Amino acid sequence: MILLTGATGSIGRATMTELRTANAAFKVAARNPADLHALGVPSVVFDWDQLGSYLPALQGVDRLFLLTPNSERQVGYVLQAVAAAKRAGVRHIVRVSVMGADAEPGIILGRQHFVAEREIRASGIGWTMLRPTFFMDNFIRYYGVDPHKDSQVYLPNGDGKAAWVDPADVGAVAAKVLCTDSYAGSVIDLTGPELLSTAEALSVLGSVLGHRYAYVDVSEHAAREAMEKTGIPAWLVDAFLELNALIRQGHAATLASGVQQVLGRPPRSMREWAARLKTAPGTA
Ligand SMILES: NC(=O)c1ccc[n+]([C@@H]2O[C@H](COP(=O)([O-])OP(=O)(O)OC[C@H]3O[C@@H](n4cnc5c(N)ncnc54)[C@H](OP(=O)(O)O)[C@@H]3O)[C@@H](O)[C@H]2O)c1
Repeated sequence: MILLTGATGSIGRATMTELRTANAAFKVAARNPADLHALGVPSVVFDWDQLGSYLPALQGVDRLFLLTPNSERQVGYVLQAVAAAKRAGVRHIVRVSVMGADAEPGIILGRQHFVAEREIRASGIGWTMLRPTFFMDNFIRYYGVDPHKDSQVYLPNGDGKAAWVDPADVGAVAAKVLCTDSYAGSVIDLTGPELLSTAEALSVLGSVLGHRYAYVDVSEHAAREAMEKTGIPAWLVDAFLELNALIRQGHAATLASGVQQVLGRPPRSMREWAARLKTAPGTA
C-alpha cells in the first residue's frame, strides 16, 4: 500500500494519475480530499500542521510518497513524517527534493531539502530521492502566464536558461519508483530535454497557445517589492529571489538523464507540455 501526500499539487496529481493507470494499491492523504472522492480515489484527512493526523494516515502503508509544501516548517514536517513512518512500519520513502539540494553554500529551499534528505537517509527506512529542477507549470502557477490571453511576465531571470521539467514526467518517475525496489538508495535528478531562457520558454508557450507572452526583465528590487505587496511572507520572498538568481547566474542550465533512465524515453519538451495544456489542461 502506497500513501501519497501532496496529491492535489502538480507533481502529486501526476503521480496519482500514473498509479491509477498502473492499478497500484494506494491511498491519498489530503487536508481537503473532497475533490478526490469524485475520482473514486481512497483518501484520508491529513494536515501537515496536525500531528495527530500522521499515524492514522500511515496505518497499513509500506511506501510513502513524501512531498511537502514550501513552508518555513518544511523540515519539521519531514521529521514528523519520518518518525510516524517508522512507527507505522513504512519500508520505503520516495521523497520529492530539489535539483542541487547538496550544492554549497546553497539556497534557502535547497538547504531545507538537504536537511530533509539527511534525516530520511538516517532513518533506517529505504529511500529514493527525486530531485527535479524548475517545473514547467510554474509559468501558469507562479509567473503570471494566462493560457487564455496575452500576458506579461515580470521576473529577474535575465537571459539565464533553465532545464524546465514537465511535472507529468516527475509524476511518472515517482509512480514507477514507488512500485519497485529497484531505485532504493538512488538520487535521481530530473530535468526537461532542453535549456530555455524565460523569454525563449514564453515564445514556445505563446506559439502553441496562440497568445503573446512578453518577458519583462525586472530588477531584484522591483521583484521584491511586487512580491511583498502580494503578501508573500518575507522568508519566501528571499527564497524565490534566490531561485531567480540561480537562473540568472546560469546555475540552472544543467540537463540530467533521470527521466530517460527511469522511463526509458526522453523527457517531454516545453512544446509538448504546452500542447497538452491546450488540448487536455487537466494533464499539464
Ligand atoms: N515548483 C517547482 O518548480 C519545484 C521544483 C523542484 C522542487 N520543488 C519542491 O516540490 C514541493 C512542492 O512544491 P510546489 O510549490 O510545486 O507544491 P504544490 O504543487 O503546490 O503542492 C503542494 C501540496 O501540498 C499540499 N499541502 C499544502 N499545505 C498542506 C497542509 N498543511 N497539509 C496537507 N497538505 C498540504 C497541497 O494541498 P492543498 O491542495 O490542500 O493546498 C498540495 O497538494 C516543494 O517541496 C518544492 O520545494 C518544486
